[in-house]
Amino acid sequence: MQINICENPIATAKAFAEYMLAWHKQHGAMNVALSGGSTPKILFDLLATDYAAAFDWTKINLYWGDERCVAPTDSDSNYKMTNEHLLAKVNIPEGNIHRVLGENDPEQEAIRYGQLIEQNLPKKDGNPVFDIIILGMGTDGHTASIFPHEIELLDSAKTCEVANHPETGQKRVTLTGPVLNQARSVCFLVTGDNKKEKIKQIFEEQDVAKSYPAYHINPKEGELIWFLDEAAASSYKKP
Ligand code: 6PG
Repeated sequence: MQINICENPIATAKAFAEYMLAWHKQHGAMNVALSGGSTPKILFDLLATDYAAAFDWTKINLYWGDERCVAPTDSDSNYKMTNEHLLAKVNIPEGNIHRVLGENDPEQEAIRYGQLIEQNLPKKDGNPVFDIIILGMGTDGHTASIFPHEIELLDSAKTCEVANHPETGQKRVTLTGPVLNQARSVCFLVTGDNKKEKIKQIFEEQDVAKSYPAYHINPKEGELIWFLDEAAASSYKKP
């Protein structure tokens, strides 16, 4: 596990962008699963401006680690956010953008999206292998849309499952734990003071952290890298 602590959210996004670009220069084609929520907006803005010309977007296929089961025009849609901050601003072929069809029936879409990923990606130990999966972490320790009350999704035999937001009940389609842990690289992007307690508990391997899905993400053979800003890391003291 690598921990990169950067001064602020922009520096954190830049550190990841440099990592992703280095991977692209070394490997070329990439299958990347994106996180949603608000944290990645700064990263997507950076990729759409300073880094837009550095990537050969024809070689990059984008998927989502999770998506809210809403229309792509809904303000809750991770696809909508990503399109506004990134996709509409770079020359990525439409065919390289693989959104979750949030407007469809959640159970049917989880099956369809899982089959799409299984068809498009190489496999290892029966799981599709992403090159890079970007993950965020909620203040409750969830990641993708694997929430503490549905922590069994970490062990699902399926590629995708339907999850339920613990407060709103909003349905989500999420990648499951085995897929996350089969990736060649999992990069957490976590910023903000409101994440510092969970970061401390996870990095200190406190018992309470074992109830956080994010704690259990550790690729079997791949890299695990945390990109944090100082605020998110402010309660954690590197030994
Ligand atoms: C989502 C995300 C989710 C997110 C965390 C952190 O669809 O909401 O994929 O896992 O990464 O909830 O969200 P923030 O970046 O908004 O804090």
